[in-house]
Parts: sequence; C-alpha cells; structure tokens
Amino acid sequence: MLKTFAVLVVLLSSVTSFFLSEKDICEVEKARWNQCFKGFINKTTELNEIAKEVIESSSTVAPSHYQNHKNNFNSLVQCVGNIHCKGERKMIKFNFDTTGFYVEMNEGTAEQCVKEADQTVQLHNCINPKDFKFSTGNDFNNKVLSCTEEVLENTECSAEDKKNVMRGALAVKDMYDIFSDTLKNKTHVNEFDLKFDRTKYL
Ligand SMILES: *[C@@H]1O[C@H](CO)[C@@H](O)[C@H](O)[C@H]1NC(C)=O
Ligand SMILES: *[C@@H]1O[C@H](CO)[C@@H](O)[C@H](O)[C@H]1NC(C)=O
Repeated sequence: MLKTFAVLVVLLSSVTSFFLSEKDICEVEKARWNQCFKGFINKTTELNEIAKEVIESSSTVAPSHYQNHKNNFNSLVQCVGNIHCKGERKMIKFNFDTTGFYVEMNEGTAEQCVKEADQTVQLHNCINPKDFKFSTGNDFNNKVLSCTEEVLENTECSAEDKKNVMRGALAVKDMYDIFSDTLKNKTHVNEFDLKFDRTKYL
C-alpha cells in the first residue's frame, strides 16, 4: 500500500512538472522561499535582520552570522530545499550550502582545538572580519587560505582537523571568488545557475 502510494506520488509529481511551465515552477519556488523566511521572523533578532537583508537586497549573507544560530540555519536550509530556478535565490542557496559545509568542517574536535588555543576569533576573521561586506575583492579572497593556515599553526589541532578546516576555507574562498565576479553585474546575478558541490572539497 505504502509502496503504491510512493509510486503514485512520483508519477503525480512528474505529471505536474510536465504540465507546469518553467515560469510556474519558479513562481512556486519563490512562494516557498518567502514562506520559509517568514517563518524565521522573530525567532532571533539577528537572523531576522539577515533574512530581511537577504530578501530586500541582492547582497548575500556571510557565514559567521549563521554559526551562532545553527539550528535555525539548518531548518531554514531544509525548508528552502533544492533551488531549481536560476537567479538570486539560487545564489543565496549556494551561499547557504557553502556556509553549511564550512561550519561542518569546523565542528567537533576542530572547534575544540581552535578554542583551546584561543584562536576562534582569529580563525573566524580570516573569512569574516568585523567590517566584512560582499562583494569582497581579490586582495581579501586571496588571503583566506594563507590566513587560515597561519592561524592553524598557532593551534595543537591534529593534521586531520587542520585538513578539514582548510577544506571549509577553500570552499568559502571559491564562493567569494565566484560572488565577487557575479555581483559586478546584475544580469549575472539573475543568471546565476551554480549549485554547491561538496565532493569538490572532500
Ligand atoms: C514579531 O514580533 C512583533 C513585535 O514583537 C509582532 O508585532 C509581530 O506580530 C511578530 N511577527 C510574527 C510573524 O510573529
Ligand atoms: C553585464 O553582462 C551582460 C551579459 O554578459 C552584458 O551584456 C552587459 O554588457 C554587462 N553589463 C555591464 C555593465 O558590464
């Protein structure tokens, strides 16, 4: 019974997507996106501010803002789901997925050893200093990796933890490079069609 139901659902969704035009799909996606963000209003002031920022402008958010709100962040990402239609939302989703990967690579023992060496703020500043703003320039982007590496030298982190932190930093650096380029031209933002691929970094 359950199996039949599953098959039906799959069939039904392929039928609907067959009849829905690309434009319709994007309208549905946009409505879902807005609904997801609405759900976050008032959960935390900071996240609320960021959500507003994301909705109201073409600027994207920086990883650190979400590190302090991991649970909210994860449920927001889950709510948003897969973004099919190209453009600003896909770009923000790319940012979310890169951020999620960075956070994941910095979790657990890596987080501990950085904290024990009192280097948490320094590490964080490599990708997201206080006055951080998109779009970053090449000067900043090119220092992300060397900065991260230098901070890690001040820790007793294991080779494995260091490797993971560097993987996360590389993903963020690549995103900064892509975004610096994309944000130069509104047409490129509207045509943004990339999906974050974590396997590139593992
Ligand atoms: C958010 O909080 C404000 C003020 O506390 C309130 O007026 C508003 O209705 C709340 N919005 C939602 C969506 O809960
Ligand atoms: C933006 O990009 C489009 C498409 O690549 C191009 O035709 C246009 O000239 C660019 N605009 C600016 C201001 O560079």
